Amino acid sequence: MFSFGKMLNAVVLALACSSVNAVPWDATVKYSTHRTREISPALTIEAYHPPTTYKTFGKGLDDAHAARVKREGIEAASTAFVASQLGLDESAVNFKSGYESESAHYGYMRQAHDNVPFVNAVANVAFKDDKVVSFGNSFVSTDNIAASTPTVEIDSFISDIEAQLDGKFNDYSSLEYLAKADGTVALVHVVQIRNEDTNAWYEAMVDAHSGELVSITDFVADASYTVVPISKQDPTDGIETLSNPALTAASPYGWHGTSSTSTTTNTSGNNVVAYKGSSTSGTTSQSSSGQVFNYRYDTSVAPTSGSNVQAATVNSFYIMNSLHDISYLYGFTEAAYNFQTSNFGKGGVANDRVLMSVQDSSGTNNANFATPPDGQSGQCRMYIWTYTNPRRDGDVENDIPVHEGTHGITNRVTGGGTGRCLQTTESGGMGEGWSDAMAEWTEQTSATISDFTMGGWVTGSTAGIRSYPYSTNARTNPLRYSTIRTLNEVHDIGEVWANMLHNVYALLVGEYGFSADFKTSAASDAGNVVYMHLFIDALALQPCNPTLPTARDAWIQADENRYGGEHVCTVWTAFASRGLGVNARSYTDDTTVPAECR
Ligand SMILES: *[C@@H]1O[C@H](CO)[C@@H](O)[C@H](O)[C@H]1NC(C)=O
Ligand SMILES: [Zn+2]
Repeated sequence: MFSFGKMLNAVVLALACSSVNAVPWDATVKYSTHRTREISPALTIEAYHPPTTYKTFGKGLDDAHAARVKREGIEAASTAFVASQLGLDESAVNFKSGYESESAHYGYMRQAHDNVPFVNAVANVAFKDDKVVSFGNSFVSTDNIAASTPTVEIDSFISDIEAQLDGKFNDYSSLEYLAKADGTVALVHVVQIRNEDTNAWYEAMVDAHSGELVSITDFVADASYTVVPISKQDPTDGIETLSNPALTAASPYGWHGTSSTSTTTNTSGNNVVAYKGSSTSGTTSQSSSGQVFNYRYDTSVAPTSGSNVQAATVNSFYIMNSLHDISYLYGFTEAAYNFQTSNFGKGGVANDRVLMSVQDSSGTNNANFATPPDGQSGQCRMYIWTYTNPRRDGDVENDIPVHEGTHGITNRVTGGGTGRCLQTTESGGMGEGWSDAMAEWTEQTSATISDFTMGGWVTGSTAGIRSYPYSTNARTNPLRYSTIRTLNEVHDIGEVWANMLHNVYALLVGEYGFSADFKTSAASDAGNVVYMHLFIDALALQPCNPTLPTARDAWIQADENRYGGEHVCTVWTAFASRGLGVNARSYTDDTTVPAECR
């Protein structure tokens, strides 16, 4: 049988060890017990929650106290159960609340000492019928506990705490115990500090014997999104809930507003508004308080069933914002004609965030992106794909929205924000190629170079929507510069260009390595970071309506400009390997590299 007495000892032992052991906590342990919150540049607080032991019992554990639920109620039964399991007097167990649902009775308790309850040492128990079905607790040792009568009153410290947390005390307060990471237990005044202008709302725990701020609760939930992470391709790779994915450097007020005082709780923000049907009525709102967008896409039902519309809207919002932020790091900024409602005085023309229509009814089996000049919103339309049953939604296969969003980048950056400079068949074809290449780049997670397929999930086919996978193997993908001679459709031409870029990427990563945090930092000199710098820099350098040779020249020049030509031979070698060497012209291959690269 499971012994709870032993479990408590183990917890106390762990606390004692942590106080004498200077070795940093293992990160995975720390994630479950600690939370560092940066309140301001001058104030960082680490909140602590004692380790929890938790056990479930399947069909249930026989226990004398469980049988008391029906007779005496959840409070009496759960208080007695917890006290008996932990070998404590019932006065050490403070019943907070409980209720009965269709499937169980739930009781929620806190540890107490001298009738003062604990903030962070808690227990929960569930009973079903006459049995215990689960029990969790984070009760702690009281060997090192502060006296239960305060020696410092709220009046004496409140103005200092208000200043530290940049808010006002709203008169909510309580006296509680707080278990600390060093194994001691502090007596604390818990006071609420709120600032309606900045949207901040904290509970401050101030030591009732020293007046020192020892911990906080942040009532404002972080923005969170249940999505297919941008490093994955489609829902079968795994749906996750991400917290605060916005990059401050690119989106200073996050994804839902234009200033700290003007934020939305729907899929409408400074960079993107994602909606179904109409941008004025079809946005998806938070699924609970704060900016919590937790709708899970269910691939077993139609795109329009259940909460799939919300999940798709959130995914498209997340992907388009992520693309905004990542490309911003690499140079697609306000001054470089990006898409934002407010440009924060950083150049370019404002009022042109991306309008992202999810599950758009104007088409199927495709998606598109219209790029008018800087100052007018880009319009993306995502369609449902009809090849499978149930149908599949391009909104949740990330290579599709990333491909579309990249049309906005290439059309804006080429030729100075006019939207007029990828209009020829060849340059339009390269537009398709850059978009596939960007989708591929965002999904890399290591230096391993694998073949890449576009649109495999939406079509339900391993081949996806292109003729060949992008590959370094010329048998897997035989496309060369001269192949264009036989092609006249933009996506087909795009495949030639995208496969060349795949080979540029592969050589750069092979030679200069891979930086894993390339989506949050563009500062590394690793090959995958160099690649995206050259990608974006070359867009700005290349002429209006470029050809493959002129676009290649812009890559080489971009390397001269940024890296003093460090990578030019690597880039030349990759292009030449697919027929775009020094003397390539008029769709005739040439594999020559410049003399200095031989
Ligand atoms: C989204 O939120 C903003 C700010 O609260 C509001 O002005 C806008 O109407 C909302 N959009 C929709 C479609 O509900
Ligand atoms: Zn396209």
